[in-house]
Amino acid sequence: MYRIVKKRVLNPSVVLMEIEAPMVARKAEPGQFIILRIDEFGERIPLTVADFDREKGTVTIIFQLVGTTTKQLSALEEGDALVDFVGPLGVASHLEGLKKVAVVGGGVGCAIAYPQAKKLHALGAQVDVIAGFRNRELIILEEEFAKVATRFFCTTDDGSNGNKGFVTDVLRGLIEEGAAYDAVIAIGPLVMMRAVSELTRPYGIRTVVSMNPIMIDGTGMCGGCRLTVGGETKFACVDGPEFDGHQVDFDEAIRRGRVFASQEKESLREHEC
Ligand code: FES
Repeated sequence: MYRIVKKRVLNPSVVLMEIEAPMVARKAEPGQFIILRIDEFGERIPLTVADFDREKGTVTIIFQLVGTTTKQLSALEEGDALVDFVGPLGVASHLEGLKKVAVVGGGVGCAIAYPQAKKLHALGAQVDVIAGFRNRELIILEEEFAKVATRFFCTTDDGSNGNKGFVTDVLRGLIEEGAAYDAVIAIGPLVMMRAVSELTRPYGIRTVVSMNPIMIDGTGMCGGCRLTVGGETKFACVDGPEFDGHQVDFDEAIRRGRVFASQEKESLREHEC
């Protein structure tokens, strides 16, 4: 069993949990993910590793309350335990050698962007972090980003934090001002990652996106997480979850992401009754 040692509600729909999982913590790297089950009847859900502490033997996950399982997970408290916590899965981010990077996070995607920014900072890179949220109430990890970012920009769609705009507005401004990035790392909703990739394409800036499709086994056997990248079929769980944003077929990924929307709604209704 995997004990919840810390729980923090980051905003009304996003929760952080630190889970005791020493074997996973020992090997976890930014960019990788875990698959958990709450109990033996539970659905398997993938969550990207938001942080880890090898000494304490813990792994931090941050999740949004979007479906039945994440709602059930959010109801657990410190001291409760999960039946499965498998990982680390997927390919770790390749961050070595990068000197100047823009890390772009959208919404809860900032939870995944944070370990990337932290590691880049530790490697001595210059890291501009651009974080975007719908409104001020949804902002997460502001203090954490401020500690590791060379420059930190936080925008809201409605301007309620005094900085109205989209992450792409900020990124475009920085590129046009002459920020010569080795790479842009974009993590968030598919439409945001597509917009960032289209923005950087004409500049020829390497752009890495973190894909989060439907997953079942997480080991490359079920095919549930397949994507088209550069015209080839790839499995996010074993070939990713990070891919070249200029090569990803986002339209297909968006379509596939909606396949079970009605079942997800049905499940939520059943569990709320
Ligand atoms: Fe089954 Fe990736 S989750 S192949």
